Amino acid sequence: MSEIKNNEQNIEKIFKEAQDFLPLLGTDYVELYVGNAKQSAYYFKTAFGFQSFAYKGLETGSKDVTSYVLIQEKIKIVLTTPLNSKSTVNDHIKKHGDGVKVIALWVDDATKSWEETTSRGAKSYMEPTTEKDEYGEVTRSGIYTYGETVHIFVERKNYKGVFLPGYEGWKSEYNPTSTGLKYIDHMVGNVGWNQMDKWVKYYEDIMGFVNFLSFDDKQITTEYSALMSKVMSNGNGRIKFPINEPAEGKRKSQIEEYLDFYEGSGVQHIAVATDDIITTVSELRNRGIEFLSVPPDEYYKAVPLRLQEHNHELKEDINTLKKLGILIDADEEGYLLQIFTKPLQDRPTLFFEIIQRMGAKGFGAGNFKALFEAIEREQEKRGTL
Ligand code: FE2
Repeated sequence: MSEIKNNEQNIEKIFKEAQDFLPLLGTDYVELYVGNAKQSAYYFKTAFGFQSFAYKGLETGSKDVTSYVLIQEKIKIVLTTPLNSKSTVNDHIKKHGDGVKVIALWVDDATKSWEETTSRGAKSYMEPTTEKDEYGEVTRSGIYTYGETVHIFVERKNYKGVFLPGYEGWKSEYNPTSTGLKYIDHMVGNVGWNQMDKWVKYYEDIMGFVNFLSFDDKQITTEYSALMSKVMSNGNGRIKFPINEPAEGKRKSQIEEYLDFYEGSGVQHIAVATDDIITTVSELRNRGIEFLSVPPDEYYKAVPLRLQEHNHELKEDINTLKKLGILIDADEEGYLLQIFTKPLQDRPTLFFEIIQRMGAKGFGAGNFKALFEAIEREQEKRGTL
């Protein structure tokens, strides 16, 4: 883990190395292309506690697509579905199934963002376009990233409307309560064999990001699956995009499985932050969200020692964390609590991570190793190691 420690001590220095030709204010929205946006919106409201926010569709004059915008604290999710066979949204859904099309980034100047990135080699998705309505104007532009995924730059400083021109506010009588999700902590991309460094370079050269954490296949490996990951961050640390590629293991890498079913590179998971993971996960479980299976007892027995090694004390009750299947990882600066949902759709592709940071800036790499060791201990007892 020497590389990780080394990088963490240098985070300030590394962030300073990030270039400022593309200042990003935050994530603006994440847009999913889905087969049935009405039902997806119900799912995200009911299961995750998102609130109705904005809408466009036949009633607002949108003839080709319907989009529902859902909100929870700072997180905005747009669910878009085609209204006829001519819409290009169909092509995306046919190939990838439901998945993330757009990671929209909030900027002060969408025209400059497009010029800076395309002049450095980004493939354009949308030239700077200004849309207006009675509430003002929004300028957006877009570039392709891995696979068919795109970044759209959103400049909304001259806009007072609900979301974007073309959308109406969406009031609903069905308003399930929030589950405590606050903001997007990071969004992970899966790319093909030996493609990770290419996309790391893309984020460095085209977007001015820096690589602030790296994990090789010896750190992220289980009996079944190995992967490599590099975490890219913009200069203010608000946007973090880990990039994964598969690695050879005894069986098929989970990343390879994703690539097979998504039929290409794409967003693997959206990590959303909460400041009370016990309440959030209890609520999500009550509402039918399924998580990856609860780790064995041995995993939790090892937790106090793992925290002691870094001089941290767990504030949460370990038995409650164990009951809910919440994972714990620690580094020099603190610890973090995290849990992964099962895929949100039938293809084993996109899933969510729920994360609560208690000072740690990592991504839970220690959990892969701890899980692996816990499983080995179980196997040892059974004599099957
Ligand atoms: Fe993650």
